[in-house]
Amino acid sequence: MKLAVFGNPIEHSLSPNIHMLFAQQTNVEIEYEKILVPLDGFAKTAKTFINQGGIGFNITVPFKVDAFQLADQHSLNAQIAGALNTIKVDGKILIGENTDGIGLVNDLTKNLGIDLRDKTLLVLGAGGATRGILLPLLQQQTKRIMIANRTATKAIQLAKNFKPYGKTCGFGLEKVKHDPVDIIINATSATLDGQMPNIANGVAKNAICYDLMYGQHTPFMHWAQNNNASMVVDGLGMLVEQAAAAFEFWTGRQPNTPTVIQKIMALNA
Ligand code: ATR
Repeated sequence: MKLAVFGNPIEHSLSPNIHMLFAQQTNVEIEYEKILVPLDGFAKTAKTFINQGGIGFNITVPFKVDAFQLADQHSLNAQIAGALNTIKVDGKILIGENTDGIGLVNDLTKNLGIDLRDKTLLVLGAGGATRGILLPLLQQQTKRIMIANRTATKAIQLAKNFKPYGKTCGFGLEKVKHDPVDIIINATSATLDGQMPNIANGVAKNAICYDLMYGQHTPFMHWAQNNNASMVVDGLGMLVEQAAAAFEFWTGRQPNTPTVIQKIMALNA
């Protein structure tokens, strides 16, 4: 099975390592390459890959919206996110999926043992990453998801869009209060600039703090540690879980993720 991940930059992607471990585990023969896609060349690169026999690919920054536009069919998850991280080639049809939200939910519930039902969540950021995780989170019957964003209007709009699926509200980062929340998720891209979203100290008290980015010392994780969070987690588990959902989408085989998380952690240490 010819598989790949498309992105720019792509050099540091751990996806090939993760998928090769899944393949060994499940006895599926795959090749999985990293493809550096020119910023204006997503569709062309995808067509070349498919013509060469590619049967599926992952898509990472900054092509998730281009991938959505390229696909012929979309899962509900992908439709609502307006962005894809996975495409399956089915004859002439490209089927689009977004496994980011499922990946996050599986990491939280299965790997970390957190029951999301009736929990109050604060999600920081209102961009593509947030759109990708909201539906699977709401499907866990959360009590309320509050979306706080630097640009308040985007959070308000996003909360409105997701109202049919559960209780949501949106506001600016400056309105984040000290009222206790169960879980805080950093879905901003601030980490890429070495920054922490500008919210008041004290908010993290007793909350589980989860950064969608991975790496042991993101600014958000540092903030959470200094603000008495009950648990501080990076997004490595989510990375492996979203890959597992993509692998299953392509191959029909379900990998065992905890052992792969351990191996990838060791590789990334
Ligand atoms: P992604 O696909 O990673 O979500 P995006 O759609 O560009 O990328 O969204 C980036 C998100 O991170 C936005 O919510 C952005 O806030 P704005 O909507 O106000 O731009 C947020 N973000 C980026 N840098 C930030 C920073 N330094 N502090 C707080 N929020 C930040």
